Amino acid sequence: MRTSPVWSPTQYGKFGDKRGRAFDDLVNRIEADEVKRVVDLGCGPGNLTATLLDRWPEATIQGIDSSEPMIEAAGEYATDRLSFVVGDLLEWTAEPGSLDVIVSNATLQWIPEQLELLPGFVRALRPGGWLAIQIPGNGDAPSHAILRELASTEPYAQYAAEKSLRPDVPGPAEYIEALTAEGCVVDAWETTYNHILPGENAVLEWVKGTGARPVLQSLPDDLRTEFEAEYGARLAAAYPQRSFGTVLPFRRIFAVAQKEG
Ligand SMILES: C[S@@+](CC[C@H](N)C(=O)[O-])C[C@H]1O[C@@H](n2cnc3c(N)ncnc32)[C@H](O)[C@@H]1O
Repeated sequence: MRTSPVWSPTQYGKFGDKRGRAFDDLVNRIEADEVKRVVDLGCGPGNLTATLLDRWPEATIQGIDSSEPMIEAAGEYATDRLSFVVGDLLEWTAEPGSLDVIVSNATLQWIPEQLELLPGFVRALRPGGWLAIQIPGNGDAPSHAILRELASTEPYAQYAAEKSLRPDVPGPAEYIEALTAEGCVVDAWETTYNHILPGENAVLEWVKGTGARPVLQSLPDDLRTEFEAEYGARLAAAYPQRSFGTVLPFRRIFAVAQKEG
């Protein structure tokens, strides 16, 4: 089963500018006005949530995340209009019709039953309210294929095989289907960004902050070091470092829905 790992705000924060681009592209598609209440589901370290303060200057914004280290890091951005709370999206509810905007960026891929949560999210919106979701759709990329292959060979497999299953995420068409059924007008699309990453072992450093965490954390310390060396060498071959940096193609899926009303 896929589980959300223990998060490191520091490791995740590397490449923050690149990770933030999809959030901006997502939020830019929301056409809401008169926004008073906003929730960011799976807010992580809060830096992106904080950008919403300027976007909707009248709004009260809450970030929710199941990771205590992430919420602790997010505290740095708290203001009288921005708060953060630890909470699991599997249990999250809000008063029906109480929210103007719900954002969830790079989070729902960690929740296999995510489509079942969508009706509750839409219920929490007022008529005319907006739900905006972005998830990675890069499960077939070399970064993940190599991870799965390595994690399913011994000596790693005894610890890690179950931690590296291919994320089975919805595509744009599934979001359109699911959210239209909830009475929304939906715009869903996909984009492949070509991030140019600086530094040595750049792709290894990137995946250590996100997708590779469940595998790495399942391994005993000595094996983790060995695994990282082998994984890093294979990543370096798949994503060669150039004079200008290392190119990481990264597919992402977006769904922006407005509740009819
Ligand atoms: C890749 S980070 C994205 C953080 C932030 N939205 C961003 O774009 O920078 C994924 C976040 O999802 C959170 N998460 C995963 N499963 C969750 C769940 N069931 N409930 C709440 N948060 C969850 C993790 O703790 C993590 O902070």
